[in-house]
Amino acid sequence: MGSFQTVIYEKNESMAYITLNRPEVLNSFNTQMRDDMYQILGAIKDDAEVAAVIIKGAGDKAFCAGADLSEFLTAPSPVIARQIRWERDVWGLFLSLPQPIIAALHGYVLGSGLELALCCDLRIAADDAQFGFPEVELGIIPAAGGTQTLPRVVGRAQALEILLTARRIDAEEACAIGLVNLVVPRAELLPAAEEMARKIASLDQNAVRLAKQAVVRGLDLPLAEGLELERRIAGQAFKNRRRQTH
Ligand code: COA
Repeated sequence: MGSFQTVIYEKNESMAYITLNRPEVLNSFNTQMRDDMYQILGAIKDDAEVAAVIIKGAGDKAFCAGADLSEFLTAPSPVIARQIRWERDVWGLFLSLPQPIIAALHGYVLGSGLELALCCDLRIAADDAQFGFPEVELGIIPAAGGTQTLPRVVGRAQALEILLTARRIDAEEACAIGLVNLVVPRAELLPAAEEMARKIASLDQNAVRLAKQAVVRGLDLPLAEGLELERRIAGQAFKNRRRQTH
């Protein structure tokens, strides 16, 4: 794959690394980054070699400090902005990736940065991480899935408090409410993400992908339909397993 303006893409055996790479503006998310991510995620989706993906931010200060406010202020008309979103549905692509995605989060994780982290399957925070949705303070609301993904991760009351007060929460609190899986010292962030990715990569990849699919798709269904989905996917997993052992 070629190189990208705003994101670094690397592959090491079965692990893929995506690094948001605009550290001078705290990796804020602009249109170019969305286009770059779209291409990278599309390629990962079809890459059978990739067993797990790690997403991280370049620089010391931030994973991502949200949407690029300079673009926000000069944004084209809402109609064009919406059209760009449809054409570049990076968030939908994220949620449809078959491989587990691990977000390695440090420093500021704000607005779209938090929305991006919420599209991942597992979140590991450095002890210096700070999370928040400042959108309401700016007179807007999150528009990259945050109002839907946050309550699915932390529950309705916690999500509403975070969204409506725009307050920042630290890594410890994020862990206590289930927003992140794990908190580690800053220096151990990448090693911890890699350890998790390696563990996943060492397992049966069919089973890993099917388990992810059952959880992600099932969360959008009523329980009875979710159980039916699990029955079908478990049947598929047994069939795959039998095929491997014969
Ligand atoms: N969009 C564009 N540029 C941003 C940005 C964003 N979301 N967040 C930070 N930057 C830029 C700053 O303008 C600054 O650029 P400069 O050096 O050319 O002036 C650089 O990144 C460093 O940020 P700075 O504000 O100096 O760092 P800080 O440590 O004092 O403050 C934050 C960090 C995150 C508290 C502050 O940058 C901030 O509030 N950013 C906006 C966050 C936000 O509202 N995001 C959601 C948008 S919906």
